[in-house]
Amino acid sequence: MIFGRVKPLDAILATAEKKGLQRSLGAFQLTMLGIGAVIGTGIFVLTSEAAQKAGPGMMLSFVLAGFVCAVAALCYSELASMVPVAGSAYTYTYAVMGELLAWMVGWALILEYAVGASAVAVGWSGYFVGLLDHSLGIHIPLAISAGPSSGGIINLPAVVISLLVTGLLVLGTTESARFNAILVIIKVAALTLFVALSVPVMKMDHFQPLLPTGVSGMAGAAASIFFAYVGFDAVSTAAEETRNPQRNVPIGLIGSLIFCTIFYLLVAAGAIGATNDVAFAQPVRDAAGVLLDPGSTALVQRCTELAGIGRDPLPCSHEALAHVLRQIGWVKLGNLIGLAAFLALPSVVLMMMFGQIRVFFAMARDGLLPDKLASVHPRFKTPHIMTMVTGVVVTLAAAFLPVGKLVDYSNSGTLFAFAMVAASVLALRKIDPTRHRPFRTPAVMVIAPLTIAGCLYLFWSLQLIAKLVLPIWGAVGLAIYFLYSRKRSYVGRGIVDVVDDPAMQPEVAKPLDR
Ligand code: ALA
Repeated sequence: MIFGRVKPLDAILATAEKKGLQRSLGAFQLTMLGIGAVIGTGIFVLTSEAAQKAGPGMMLSFVLAGFVCAVAALCYSELASMVPVAGSAYTYTYAVMGELLAWMVGWALILEYAVGASAVAVGWSGYFVGLLDHSLGIHIPLAISAGPSSGGIINLPAVVISLLVTGLLVLGTTESARFNAILVIIKVAALTLFVALSVPVMKMDHFQPLLPTGVSGMAGAAASIFFAYVGFDAVSTAAEETRNPQRNVPIGLIGSLIFCTIFYLLVAAGAIGATNDVAFAQPVRDAAGVLLDPGSTALVQRCTELAGIGRDPLPCSHEALAHVLRQIGWVKLGNLIGLAAFLALPSVVLMMMFGQIRVFFAMARDGLLPDKLASVHPRFKTPHIMTMVTGVVVTLAAAFLPVGKLVDYSNSGTLFAFAMVAASVLALRKIDPTRHRPFRTPAVMVIAPLTIAGCLYLFWSLQLIAKLVLPIWGAVGLAIYFLYSRKRSYVGRGIVDVVDDPAMQPEVAKPLDR
């Protein structure tokens, strides 16, 4: 039977128990962890894309995307606290819905993590190029700082940062609580500075028209801006290391999401309201009044024309927040925000690639990917082959694709995984109602269906090309599954708890350093 290969939950838990991580994290550390993983390219860069899609309506986009993430987070927490092992949504689905769907979720998570890492790398590149230009007067030509669809040839800074992060991961860099705390402070200080300078000079008439592209434009921007919240699953995957998870996990998850949503709304309000006639936050249209696609060559050309007549609207900028501050007269502080993004975004690339490697690891551990991929470097003790394969994929995507497209592709995979997690929570409540749940999703019969509906709505609101990526990617995944993975699967061959070697479990080899 095609859906019959379920990995017994007890076998998964037996693997997890061998790790025996200490329960040391409290609500505050969890919240910091969440904020560190969440704040990144989404708010620093996508504000421009969102302005192009929805104008001032992006305020509502932030609320909608934040809400879908909050309900998804509550579902994630239940499974993460019950099944605290590597692979997150992939492992949960394996335990509940069986191998085929788990493979599809793991395959979709490649979009979330690897393509997401590329997106953050391209976002970083925009800030790097802007920072060099505005503070040192070094101008990097478009040909080597953007992909072909944005008027360039290759995005070299994004290539360099992707390769650097890959190198760090091969050497064994992992998440570190102290380093994370410093970066959280830098990011929050940068956003606070932005809010403090922009919100007081807001003009209410800049919010008119509120929905220049209608509700569908607002939803389209929400589907992209959703990326700004991705990463909170870092909190749920730390559930096993948390004291009193029933209380602290939801505080960490919801706390970091509420914190980020409030900041995002203030930043978005500042970005819309403080801009002037030069740097307005309304969508850019061509001479015939047709809305232009974010990241397209047509938009780049139109922006060049507008620059020629002294206009520099928000959707034209690759470093949204720095751009706004420079436009309202704070050139040096704009550069400082650029510096904060320059320093902090690489850690988000690292975190996403790390997530990717964990998922690959879990899949290889189950026999669905070649063992060779998971082999551990004798000296660095890292899964170097898998890391380099991931690094090549991330680098290639970052070299040639614009940030908006990468974000949308990444979101299509994430939305699928979130919906599957919510479905798994519901299914497991039915199949195994008495199992101990350290954290229970409140009002699960409302929250889980709401998560699925929210994910479907956001997926539907993505641009057509992004909507097509998931089924095409899925078809490739299915072909690999039936041609390669299915016959090699350990569960399929009746081998259950296969790997005792701690080096095969990244969390054991490298416990989070807190
Ligand atoms: N939420 C993360 C970001 O915005 C992925 O970059």
